[in-house]
Amino acid sequence: MNDPHARGNNKGAARCPLRGRTRPLGRPCGTGLTALAALLVCSVAFAQSPNFDAMRGRTPVADETKPPLLTNPENKDLRRERAYSMQPPTIPHKIDNYQVDLHVNACLGCHSRGRAAVTQAVAVSVSHYMDRDGNFLAEISPRRYFCEQCHVTQVDAKPLVGNRFVDVDEVIKQAVAPAKPPVKK
Ligand code: HEC
Ligand code: HEC
Repeated sequence: MNDPHARGNNKGAARCPLRGRTRPLGRPCGTGLTALAALLVCSVAFAQSPNFDAMRGRTPVADETKPPLLTNPENKDLRRERAYSMQPPTIPHKIDNYQVDLHVNACLGCHSRGRAAVTQAVAVSVSHYMDRDGNFLAEISPRRYFCEQCHVTQVDAKPLVGNRFVDVDEVIKQAVAPAKPPVKK
């Protein structure tokens, strides 16, 4: 896991001898000295853990963060490359006022199999008609009904957290690259 917040917390928990120990009923909580030592170890461990994560910034966990300003989604009609084949593609158009609720699904008004020819929108793929047991349904599967659960509009934003993801194309390219000739000394 790359989440510094989680790592920090785990470190604290592992080192803190008081965590996860239950006191037997009717017995005092250890001797004064062990309690003091434990407290000391705990506070040192917590002082070391940064207690912030990359998404929240330095705002303490108990406080609310100041949300960043909303940005307008891009509306360029340009499909972005998918990072991997099963990535839900990002939405290359605005979706303001496209209602999706119990009664209407504005997205399907353009993206359903039956509407794609009229609207020239990309028809939802077969996976969207499949239930969780792999059966194909005549209508969109309930688990694919709320499109925005998986598909997001495009914005010009930097990733909030760093990652070392490498595209499979790059992995293959490296694997088949001819081995470098040994360096002569
Ligand atoms: C008025 C018709 C229309 C509506 C309504 C609509 N779309 Fe689209 N959508 C399109 C068209 C046309 C494209 C092809 C690219 C373009 O022109 O923007 C597209 C492209 C997409 C793509 C990219 C597909 C790919 O293969 O890269 C996604 C995802 C998408 N729409 C999701 C949605 C979602 C989710 C909604 C509802 C919130 C929605 N669309 C509502 C017409 C529509
Ligand atoms: C549970 C997640 C999920 C939901 C909900 C969902 N999709 Fe998708 N969608 C995906 C994934 C994953 C892909 C890419 C792989 C695939 O085609 O199954 C995809 C692909 C697509 C594509 C591209 C199809 C193609 O052939 O390239 C379109 C268009 C699309 N979805 C539209 C929609 C619309 C419209 C809705 C709502 C009615 C919706 N999706 C709901 C996950 C989802």
